[in-house]
Amino acid sequence: MPSLNPHLVVQNIVKSFPKTGPEKVLNSISFEVSQGKILGIIGKSGAGKSTLLRCLNGLEKPDTGKILFQDQDLTDLSSQKLREVRQKIGVVFQSFNLLSTRTVFENVSFPLELLKLSDTERQKKVENILNLVGLSSKLNAYPGQLSGGQRQRVAIARALVVDATLLLCDEFTSALDPHTTLEILRLLQDLNRRLGITIIFVTHDINVVKELAQDVCVLDQGEIVEQGSVESVFTNPNHAITQSLLSELLKNDLPDFLQQQLHLEGKENDDVVLKLIFGSQTSTKPLIANLIQEWKIPINIISGNLDHIGKATFGHLVVSLKHQGESTEKIIKYLTDHQVGVEKAGYIRW
Ligand SMILES: Nc1ncnc2c1ncn2[C@@H]1O[C@H](COP(=O)(O)OP(=O)(O)OP(=O)(O)O)[C@@H](O)[C@H]1O
Ligand SMILES: [Mg+2]
Repeated sequence: MPSLNPHLVVQNIVKSFPKTGPEKVLNSISFEVSQGKILGIIGKSGAGKSTLLRCLNGLEKPDTGKILFQDQDLTDLSSQKLREVRQKIGVVFQSFNLLSTRTVFENVSFPLELLKLSDTERQKKVENILNLVGLSSKLNAYPGQLSGGQRQRVAIARALVVDATLLLCDEFTSALDPHTTLEILRLLQDLNRRLGITIIFVTHDINVVKELAQDVCVLDQGEIVEQGSVESVFTNPNHAITQSLLSELLKNDLPDFLQQQLHLEGKENDDVVLKLIFGSQTSTKPLIANLIQEWKIPINIISGNLDHIGKATFGHLVVSLKHQGESTEKIIKYLTDHQVGVEKAGYIRW
């Protein structure tokens, strides 16, 4: 992701925790994010995502490597200077971390109190940011009186109130339902557009990456195994970890009734259930129509989720067709020859 105007440049970060073992939790991590971009970081549990975010925020110091934030190396600043620079880096977590005995206003105002801003200045800044996150009417509420989504809005306001230019979010939607998650994503997009804030986030939810990020890094065992635009990585995942993270998303999309009825061994008269995965390499030929018309194979479309990322079609269809041993294998070959990913989900008797 090289760019002419990088906001953050990470160069060869290595991080270990010698007290707990010699392994490198982060190993040769390098990437760039330009001003106003949104980067998603994904990977399995323990991959090193949170450790990486903590390094970007200066909370954790890498063993070696550089982190240039607006051209200043966070790994090489005095603690006083680091404190100043960190004001421009807001952080949001899954658990909101609000102070329960302080009102919304007082929570958001907290970082400004540490900066010893005058009452008038604080009032102006807090009201302004609470207005931007849609919480003007909740100034005097306590966190306990707010919904999860509202609490996350307060946390975002607090993270940005000191005019942060970079927002780091770690699993910021994990505690929210899908509808509220979407609202928070819209809010971040809005803040990104209006204020030009650069956003780097970690999530286990591939949908969040698809909705919010422009670029994505896939982390595995402390190393970046794949990175690029969401469009290119999601429609043509090369690394097994990326493929598995994406297929987890698709697996969840099998309808419940189907999951319950599927079995692993196919018998006579069963249908085989196939999950067809479409990506940027997929041929533009009408493949399903060809199977039906030329191969004379009736295909039952069970569910699907086809979407566009940029100009590429991406997603999956779940279909079933009569299981006929070798000819099933031929159909799978025909589809894979045209770059459709095919997973056998199981067998079903209708
Ligand atoms: N302060 C620490 N001391 C020792 N080991 C640590 C520390 N912080 C993280 N680790 C180790 O570093 C590895 C990566 O942890 P990290 O929390 O970064 O993973 P993660 O990708 O965020 O996982 P998850 O998705 O579960 O949040 C783990 O093996 C963890 O035990
Ligand atoms: Mg984590």
